[in-house]
Amino acid sequence: MRLSGKHIVLGLTGSIAAYKAAYLLRGLIKEGAEVQVVMTPAAKEFITPVTMSALSGKPVASEFFSANDGTWYSHVDMGQWADLLLIAPATAATMGKMAHGICDNLLITTYLSAKCQVMVAPAMDLDMFRHPANVANMEILRSFGNIIIEPGEGELASGLHGKGRMEEPETIVEEVVSFFNQKKKLLNKHFLITAGPTYEKIDPVRFIGNYSSGKMGYAIANKLAGEGAKVTIVSGPVQIKNVHPQITVIPVESAGEMLEKCLSVFPEVDGAVMCAAVADFTPENYSPTKVKREKDELIIRLKPTSDIAGTLGQLKTEKQLLVGFALETNNELENAGRKLKKKNLDFIVLNSMNDRGAGFGGDTNKITMIDQNNNQAFFELKSKTEVASDIVDKMVLILEQKEGRRE
Ligand code: C5P
Repeated sequence: MRLSGKHIVLGLTGSIAAYKAAYLLRGLIKEGAEVQVVMTPAAKEFITPVTMSALSGKPVASEFFSANDGTWYSHVDMGQWADLLLIAPATAATMGKMAHGICDNLLITTYLSAKCQVMVAPAMDLDMFRHPANVANMEILRSFGNIIIEPGEGELASGLHGKGRMEEPETIVEEVVSFFNQKKKLLNKHFLITAGPTYEKIDPVRFIGNYSSGKMGYAIANKLAGEGAKVTIVSGPVQIKNVHPQITVIPVESAGEMLEKCLSVFPEVDGAVMCAAVADFTPENYSPTKVKREKDELIIRLKPTSDIAGTLGQLKTEKQLLVGFALETNNELENAGRKLKKKNLDFIVLNSMNDRGAGFGGDTNKITMIDQNNNQAFFELKSKTEVASDIVDKMVLILEQKEGRRE
């Protein structure tokens, strides 16, 4: 009985996969969980509340009021009672409502009131699953800290074959068990991340910038937050809007502003990851009026910016961890190794402009990690989220070594 004493609210929505929720409920109860089922009106078209109530041993909640005696089902109480809100199956419509706070049924109001972890097991046809609207909504849910249990690939109710089948009940039960058993590795830790490009102003309408999207830095921040850490991102201008609730974003524009904010946050943190593509030079003079096309030639003199990673490297204490990035076009390993020493980093993440799918903009990266003992770890081309996991694993290991927990 691996879920004894756990309170789970199981939300069902209007999908053909709702029949699997009966097996899922039985699995949770068998493991000792106390389960309150909430069904959307559409879910009742697919499986009866009687089945779910018989299996859970509790009346199913569905309407805000009971038609019989006017009892009010308090979504607030349910949200507070739950140790976990599990929505399985979750339709595209329900995920869209969750992402945008559209509370037109008891399940969504419970979701907005819940203080606990939320897990969502989507079920839908393959084209719905991969539609940009659904993909964007799932991204928003992830940014709220919700766990998406990815659907499997296989035959779908429509007869089509593809990704969209709700994960099997036994697997979901195992995910729930491991969620309750997992130990977050970075609770009570605080990290600083720099991310995105910097903009160095020439005049009120022009700047020198670069193509950094900020995706790698934000992915690392999300992973750290997922391990229970508090994260502060000092971020150059990026398009990323949604972040995990444990992340604070301090927006900046220039390298100078980025340095100033980093210096104020760094003393409080256990570690910092320098992911930003910081300009190495900035215009010597800013023109307060728009520069006119008066001559055949325009010369803008540039002066060097401060090296933020290098500055923090000088300030870092024995206990603090400092990670840098190197984006190289030639002599990659040698250059990265030199930067590691010069900036006093604990390890450096190298991505080469020569590798397809690595570096700026895209959703993938291919990295090599080099540490102070000159250990070189080469990784395959992966999504930036997976790369972030590899980086966070290495951070956890080095922090444990620093704390003397590991040789
Ligand atoms: O020397 P280079 O710019 O290649 O070093 C890259 C690393 O240094 C990255 O971690 C980047 O975020 C950091 N950096 C910095 N401040 C600068 C330039 C680079 O923090 N002015």
